[in-house]
Amino acid sequence: MKSKAALFVFCVAFGSAVLAQHAGDGGLHLEPANTDVSDTASLQRGAKYFVNYCLGCHSAQYVRYNRLGADLDLTEAQLVENIMFTGERPFDTMTNAMNPVDAARWFGVAPPDLSLISRSRGTDYLYNFLRGFYKDESALSGTNNLWLANTAMPHVLWELQGIRTAVFSEPGADAAGLPQFEHFEPVSPGTLNEEEYDELVRDIVTFLDYIGEPMQLERRALGVRVIGFLLIFLLIAYMLKREVWKDVH
Ligand code: HEC
Repeated sequence: MKSKAALFVFCVAFGSAVLAQHAGDGGLHLEPANTDVSDTASLQRGAKYFVNYCLGCHSAQYVRYNRLGADLDLTEAQLVENIMFTGERPFDTMTNAMNPVDAARWFGVAPPDLSLISRSRGTDYLYNFLRGFYKDESALSGTNNLWLANTAMPHVLWELQGIRTAVFSEPGADAAGLPQFEHFEPVSPGTLNEEEYDELVRDIVTFLDYIGEPMQLERRALGVRVIGFLLIFLLIAYMLKREVWKDVH
């Protein structure tokens, strides 16, 4: 009886802690990224965007160009034309020329290597982070991010998305007395509309998802084959057992 009461108290305490945390998150909800790493066309586009817009600051030091070529169905000529602009060799990894010490001096924080970022942050976070930039004069770089307050990363895709400001409710609107995010307000349009921009971000996140674990498709396919084998083996083992034991009873 006592333990039931304790369990009840624990559940109530835990439940309200979770609720309190939700109340304090400023009304933000992660929208699902819906990435599909088996979509080769999306991966190819993502790789191209990554090289064009991200590799200047971020590296992906565990990714080799020739592995990319093989996994993304790109010939060496296509690789050179679309992905390798600066004379890399196919067996090179995706590093960049930025010295981390200089980078830290320029931005205050060195841009992290993005090889494993999808594993540490999750694809939903990345999708929302890249859609969460807004103009904020009080921030050092002139832009801020809903998901990483006062981030040192500038809004590198602003020409595509356009410029927006964010509207927050008056301080004190939520239980913790913090302003809550309400909506974005467009300042000037970008070259893409909202849907096209979301698609572009999804392609980038799909690519980041893939490089986080390049063999995830093989792993899943192998898992299905192993379970299939075990099921067939179960049948054989069962039939064998019946055969062996049939005279014993
Ligand atoms: C001009 C340099 C620059 C470019 C270009 C750039 N970033 Fe960044 N990025 C940064 C810096 C600096 C940080 C560190 C931000 C911080 O910790 O405040 C960062 C951080 C990040 C993070 C980590 C966020 C977190 O929660 O810690 C991700 C993810 C990221 N960048 C993705 C990208 C992607 C994807 C692109 C290409 C579309 C890109 N970045 C292009 C400078 C850049």
